[in-house]
Amino acid sequence: MQMEKEMKGLLVLVMVSLLCVFGISKECTNIPTQLSSHSFRYELLSSQNETWKEKMFEHYHLTPTDDSAWASLLPRKTLREEDEYSWKMMYKNLKSPLKSSGNFLNEMSLHNVRLDPGSIHWQAQHTNLEYLLMLDVNKLVWSFRKTAGLPTPGKAYGGWEAPDSELRGHFVGHYLSASAQMWASTHNETLKKKMSAVVSALSACQMKMGTGYLSAFPSELFDRFEAIKPVWAPYYTIHKILAGLLDQYTLADNSQALKMVKWMVDYFYNRVRNVITNYSVERHYLSLNEETGGMNDVLYKLFSITADPKHLVLAHLFDKPCFLGLLAVQADDISDAIRNHWRSSL
Ligand SMILES: *[C@@H]1O[C@H](CO)[C@@H](O)[C@H](O)[C@H]1NC(C)=O
Ligand SMILES: *[C@@H]1O[C@H](CO)[C@@H](O)[C@H](O)[C@H]1NC(C)=O
Ligand SMILES: *[C@@H]1O[C@H](CO)[C@@H](O)[C@H](O)[C@H]1NC(C)=O
Repeated sequence: MQMEKEMKGLLVLVMVSLLCVFGISKECTNIPTQLSSHSFRYELLSSQNETWKEKMFEHYHLTPTDDSAWASLLPRKTLREEDEYSWKMMYKNLKSPLKSSGNFLNEMSLHNVRLDPGSIHWQAQHTNLEYLLMLDVNKLVWSFRKTAGLPTPGKAYGGWEAPDSELRGHFVGHYLSASAQMWASTHNETLKKKMSAVVSALSACQMKMGTGYLSAFPSELFDRFEAIKPVWAPYYTIHKILAGLLDQYTLADNSQALKMVKWMVDYFYNRVRNVITNYSVERHYLSLNEETGGMNDVLYKLFSITADPKHLVLAHLFDKPCFLGLLAVQADDISDAIRNHWRSSL
């Protein structure tokens, strides 16, 4: 209860900070643009040329962002009054997810939309359906099982799913989203069985590991991420898996998938908490100079389902301050507040 109160206090603080108008944002760091190219980084990570690697990594994460580039992103300049209003509305809706305010435009569920058979769009949809049906459950979950120490029947897929790729598991996350959306759009039961089998197999991996962690690569990649050492975007992949599982819940009613998401988020909440309490919130933000996909997006969505303040706090912590400028938390205040909050609740 005490913890929950503190959490609410922190939440209010974070939200107030978000809505306040700040003058100048904190200095931001960003990776060199070249390093944000996936093919370039693949080349870099797999290169045997140590001289070249060292030369490139010297600059990794350490290039201060051109202030004027960020200044032009400052919402004070770009945020019109009506947009500011939409932000406030968004937070209001997030805070009371159960009260629906709009009768104006409503989202139409995919379950209620069917394409005209014989139309080119229907054909495209069915080509996609057939493709999704071609994918093999054992192959999709191969690296997840390997990482969990479970038997690995069959073979892994290649490309980003290859057993030595630092982005393995990424495509599986996309598969979970695509199949959930396809099922909602067609109610093809063969697909439903298959995608549910993938969720169950992933659940077995998560149970085997026993911490909430669920990924096709070992958690060592997050140690590197937190130590600001070279690693290819682990949160980017985790976002895809979280989003995929959440889609399995929201579009296909798979409650097991929601449980898995919550357990995963607990695990990552603790990781981020450790970074902030052991170091600082700035250190956490520095690590966000690596791509983290839509971590904040999926966590806001999760919060709109669970109304668990923990999920909202973690979502805010993935709002990169130097990217969001005005909307960012003021690090000097918030870092102490968060650090103290977590120290006192440890
Ligand atoms: C390794 O990289 C260095 C520095 O970029 C370059 O001068 C050298 O030619 C490379 N060596 C090989 C074997 O490619
Ligand atoms: C699912 O779709 C495939 C491909 O169109 C089709 O062959 C199969 O019969 C469908 N399964 C069910 C149960 O509708
Ligand atoms: C932070 O400290 C905790 C507890 O001492 C430790 O288990 C954890 O590995 C540390 N995490 C980081 C990111 O340094």
